[in-house]
Amino acid sequence: MIFYFSGTGNSRWAAELLGQCLDERIVSISETVGTSTNFTLKKDEVVGFVFPVHGWRVPRIVDEFMRTLELLDTNSQSKARHYTFCLLTAGDSIGRTMERFVKLIREVKSGATLDLNAVESVLMPESYVGLPGMDVDKPEKEHKKIEDAENAIVRFASTVKERKIRQGDVPLGWEQLKRGPIPDFFSGPVGAFFTHFLITDKPFRVESERCVQCGICAKVCPVGDIDGGKGKEPKWKNNGKCLTCFSCYHHCPHHAIEYGNRTKHKGQYFFGKRNG
Ligand SMILES: Cc1cc2nc3c(=O)[nH]c(=O)nc-3n(C[C@H](O)[C@H](O)[C@H](O)COP(=O)(O)O)c2cc1C
Ligand code: SF4
Ligand code: SF4
Repeated sequence: MIFYFSGTGNSRWAAELLGQCLDERIVSISETVGTSTNFTLKKDEVVGFVFPVHGWRVPRIVDEFMRTLELLDTNSQSKARHYTFCLLTAGDSIGRTMERFVKLIREVKSGATLDLNAVESVLMPESYVGLPGMDVDKPEKEHKKIEDAENAIVRFASTVKERKIRQGDVPLGWEQLKRGPIPDFFSGPVGAFFTHFLITDKPFRVESERCVQCGICAKVCPVGDIDGGKGKEPKWKNNGKCLTCFSCYHHCPHHAIEYGNRTKHKGQYFFGKRNG
């Protein structure tokens, strides 16, 4: 069973690819969080987590999901061990996101033992455009990142398929994670600033003359933060649920959504936008 969260589709694609390689079912976190987070694992079933890095940390929705997730084992008599993995997608560096995730995994209420044996981070096209100077990647760079990520994911899938186990204290792939420079600083004070001040829907607005009221933005929001739909202009609910995943901004076919003045003349990206 592979749990995933994705805003602009990178992590969904990664989860689908892993699902195909491993012949495992995939479960969308945004579709289950707040409703049913109890799952029963089959005998020897793998447990995987795939999601993007947000502000050098675990996205809030994944954090919430992990705290409510309950895993049961088909054999309720014994606490069976299940091979567990985590794959992160990021634009350039993950900081200490995996270390933070390891703490969350320990919190999962489980009738099974989750053995985190393998971890991976893959660089994928940039989706964050909410600060000056931050924009999507150039098409060639997007293409190259996806190509490299595909190879890395297929390799990672073989590690999982062969059930290669950790040697010593840390999961396989731990040392190779793309943490970037000064990871403690980025996941610590910078991540805290990002979480408290930059994750907000308040700056979102719609340029009415470009909006054709197609409803796409409301449909693609993973947390239902947009009041909209066909025949309506979007209105952000300002209810603290927005993840600033920028899915609404990137999917608008008329580039009618702006984030304050910080997205003016910036590009748009979602997985499959350029190559179907
Ligand atoms: C709110 C937000 C914060 C992000 N923070 C980081 C980050 O700290 N480090 C990084 O390398 N990429 C960061 N990114 C880029 C995404 O992690 C990357 O594009 C990811 O593959 C997007 O996955 P998705 O398409 O599944 O949502 C951020 C993107 C968003 C929207
Ligand atoms: S996706 Fe763009 S055009 Fe469609 S309703 Fe939303 S803002 Fe308007
Ligand atoms: S409102 Fe836009 S940025 Fe916020 S969670 Fe929804 S899609 Fe993502």
